[in-house]
Amino acid sequence: MTLAEQQWPDFDGKEAEEFGEKLGDIINSGAIAFMISVGHKTGLFDSMADAGPLTSAQIAARAGLKERYVREWLAVMVTGGIVLYEPGARLYKLPAAHAASLTRGGALGNFAVYAQFIPMTGAIEDKLIDCFKTGQGMKYEDYPCFHQVMSEDSDQTVVANIFDLVLPLEPGLKDRLDAGIDVLDAGCGRGHALTALAERFPKNRFVGYDLCVDAIEAACDYAADAGVENIRFEARDLTDFDDVARFDLITTFDAVHDQKHPADYLKRLRRALRPGGVHLMQDIGGSAHLENNLEFPMAAFLYTASCAHCMAVSLGQGGDGLGTMWGWETAERMLKEAGYRRVERHMFEEDPMNVWFVSKA
Ligand SMILES: C[S@@+](CC[C@H](N)C(=O)[O-])C[C@H]1O[C@@H](n2cnc3c(N)ncnc32)[C@H](O)[C@@H]1O
Repeated sequence: MTLAEQQWPDFDGKEAEEFGEKLGDIINSGAIAFMISVGHKTGLFDSMADAGPLTSAQIAARAGLKERYVREWLAVMVTGGIVLYEPGARLYKLPAAHAASLTRGGALGNFAVYAQFIPMTGAIEDKLIDCFKTGQGMKYEDYPCFHQVMSEDSDQTVVANIFDLVLPLEPGLKDRLDAGIDVLDAGCGRGHALTALAERFPKNRFVGYDLCVDAIEAACDYAADAGVENIRFEARDLTDFDDVARFDLITTFDAVHDQKHPADYLKRLRRALRPGGVHLMQDIGGSAHLENNLEFPMAAFLYTASCAHCMAVSLGQGGDGLGTMWGWETAERMLKEAGYRRVERHMFEEDPMNVWFVSKA
């Protein structure tokens, strides 16, 4: 009898061996995810995407980087099954099928954008461990590049779908936007989605509010670069938002669950709508019940984002800390309690991680 079998009567050697292999795979995948983020930020994937097999020196030159670092990064990508390697000629190739999910403008979206959350949250590990002990929370500015990463996320989850999938969810909404209405994006971050709407619908008056001054500054620059004039951004803490009947459309893109008090916040947004106004809300589509999320796409990643960011920043404002996986059930209940005449829930096949609510005042 092994020592482990003596210690634990229910010890199963085969199960333990398999679990050890699984742990090895998990740690390996974490390391690869970190290096995928590096490959995205340095432009390495983009520089390999449209090329045939290249040497490490050629790849480094294309990306404007130092060969020694690039060669070591390539070794991660080869052993991680992302890049193909021809040992004789020492050539590396990013297959088109992989480039489709790892490059800017890739045909299948860009998973490297999400990989950035791993080093970003890793960077606050010590502070987070303190939070585990004190129960305190985090501030948005504790995270390196949060709004940058979030705006890239928004580009592919919101901006990519807003015109063809999202706006048609509410019949007549496009016509109202064509005619010209008042639109608020609450928790607008760097304002990519609002700017895209303002470009498409020039007769509207668009306003974006966000707590973070740096995000608002970036939003102003982004809209100015796009040459959009019918838009205004303002740094504003929306916790006590008390505008009444001012807007015809309010959008919240991934910007309710991490607020201080989401239930109260939704009531305030409802009050800010004129009669007949619409609240379009995108949030994470997981369930409020852990047992329902076992098969939910990237559930462990989302709970990590919650623990290391969304829950923590809400607690950091002295808030409820509901977390990323507060659940569509909670969101739907809170929207109904906010007093809307109608609340509809939608999910898109193209985007299994997010849920969309259309609520009519
Ligand atoms: C997950 S981010 C989403 C940002 C943006 N909608 C996007 O999709 O890129 C949530 C946003 O809510 C903002 N926020 C959090 N608490 C806020 C508050 N009390 N008042 C205003 N904005 C707040 C954050 O600054 C952050 O930009």
